[in-house]
Amino acid sequence: MFQNKKEKPLAKAQQQQPTKAATLQKPQSSDLLGASGSGNDYLIFGAVLVFVVVIILHKFVFKKGDTTGSNKGDQHGTAGFASLNEIKELTEENLTAGDVKIGEVKDLGVLTKLVRLPLELSLKHTAVVGPTGAGKSRGYFLPNCHDAGRSSFVATDPKSELWDETAYNNLNAVRFAPTDPNRSAAFNFVAYCKEVDFAENVAAAIVTGSGGNATGDSKFWSDAEEELMTGILLHIANSDAPTPTHLYNLLTSGIKRIAETLKNSEIQAARALVASFMESDKKNKSGIIQGLSGKLRFLNNPAIRRFTSSKLKPFDFKRLREKPVQVYWCLEQDEVKKLETLSTIFFSIVVTQLLKQKSGKIPVNLFFDEFANVGKIKGFANHITLLRGQGVAVSAGLQSISQIESLYGSVDCRTILDNFNNKLLMAGIQGETGEEFSRLMGDYTYTENTESFSESGSWLNKTVTKSTGVAKHARRLMTADELRRLNKKKVILISTNLRPVKMKKLKFQMSWSSLLKKFPFLKQFQFFNQQIDKMPKMAFQCGQEIPAPEYQRIEPATAKKKSYDDI
Ligand SMILES: Nc1ncnc2c1ncn2[C@@H]1O[C@H](COP(=O)(O)OP(=O)(O)OP(=O)(O)O)[C@@H](O)[C@H]1O
Ligand SMILES: [Mg+2]
Repeated sequence: MFQNKKEKPLAKAQQQQPTKAATLQKPQSSDLLGASGSGNDYLIFGAVLVFVVVIILHKFVFKKGDTTGSNKGDQHGTAGFASLNEIKELTEENLTAGDVKIGEVKDLGVLTKLVRLPLELSLKHTAVVGPTGAGKSRGYFLPNCHDAGRSSFVATDPKSELWDETAYNNLNAVRFAPTDPNRSAAFNFVAYCKEVDFAENVAAAIVTGSGGNATGDSKFWSDAEEELMTGILLHIANSDAPTPTHLYNLLTSGIKRIAETLKNSEIQAARALVASFMESDKKNKSGIIQGLSGKLRFLNNPAIRRFTSSKLKPFDFKRLREKPVQVYWCLEQDEVKKLETLSTIFFSIVVTQLLKQKSGKIPVNLFFDEFANVGKIKGFANHITLLRGQGVAVSAGLQSISQIESLYGSVDCRTILDNFNNKLLMAGIQGETGEEFSRLMGDYTYTENTESFSESGSWLNKTVTKSTGVAKHARRLMTADELRRLNKKKVILISTNLRPVKMKKLKFQMSWSSLLKKFPFLKQFQFFNQQIDKMPKMAFQCGQEIPAPEYQRIEPATAKKKSYDDI
């Protein structure tokens, strides 16, 4: 009865609208586009359905962030990954000068959005952490050097890949390549040392640039070497030939000549600084001189003498705050260790000059791809806190925390690490470093339903009682092991007071420049020629080495032969 009642109106409806039923069975294309009334209904219904699904997804999947574990409470912590809402400011459309790109996220599950640290955050310094091959260069330094736009930077380029693949895209790219003076600007580090603070910093870079904290005997030697070197730098910088070649000529002219020259220097500070050297015994004096000449032996290389001693006017890094200039410090991989002292001198001068620049509006980024290769910059733990106020952001590529520790010692390492307010983590981080970041990401409360059974009575009359409960534990958002096994395509940002942000790593594929380097035959095609035209024209070339004064050794007076009469 009930069934009949229901079927009747349907049958009636089918009889009354035969044409429409036929249309529904065999839809025309115009119906799909919404031309007919019923097609519209389907479309509207479909759209509403999609909208509802998207809202639900957004609310429950994306908005809540990517959190590990399912059951949550807050007794043991509330760690979780940041939602899209929480990082809204990092995903705004336009890049402005000084922003750095760090990754990508998907909005509504489909739209790719770039995540960047706006200037205010990037000035709080960034550590990019991952083992070799993790993608620090391709996923962070290359994309940011490529799109530096209206900002300035100074980048370490240990494989010359940054220069080759990004310089063509920058307005004022300058290359410093110590062993390639034909394609490099000149860098005369002595010319900066007219003032005591520069001379001190360069002397420290020469003596203790390879890192570690000197104690006991080694401190005695390093202090003595630094003092004498500061005196020599001040004397030479204020002479008529302020070049490293001149410095090296004096340094290798023997104890007596050095002492004689500095004693008669026109520079009072140089005279004062040599005083304690004069008082030490001959063995110590020769130890100090040998130590210093050993550290500057890279100046025996004719290419490096040309690179350092072909210009009297020093390059002014202060101007990076006034207009966008992109500086590349390029070394070949096998030179990195040998020229570590020169790298430390270079970056000590860059930092000292930038700290002295009070005016200028252009943001500057120090891109230390391989922070450990920069060596130990005197006072860096202090500088890093001041650089922010000067509009200078530091981005340091690190394989592990111990790299900072072995350079700066444990106390300064902590200060430096704490000053990297943004930490960008890549896959493969191991050991203590992984443990430290896992701790930093925090704990959340994991709630577990428990069940236990107890037995009572004799074996003939056994009763089994089941009790259920709820246990709450603290669990790391990501354990060190989970962090190590992070998907290679992902990166995690730990920044200021934000919850950790999980993103897709940026990609940087091969540029025209490196493509043409690899396949030179492509140059014969018009298209590739046009790309070559866009590449930087190397306006810099070191001139010839400026001749420097030679110093005659003062030979020691011939010792008087002892005779039996003297005894
Ligand atoms: N984001 C990425 N885009 C493109 N290629 C990548 C990316 N990440 C990793 N790779 C691949 O991994 C290789 C190593 O990446 P990269 O040189 O960036 O690592 P790294 O962390 O800088 O290593 P190292 O410490 O040795 O310099 C690249 O040659 C490339 O093939
Ligand atoms: Mg690299």
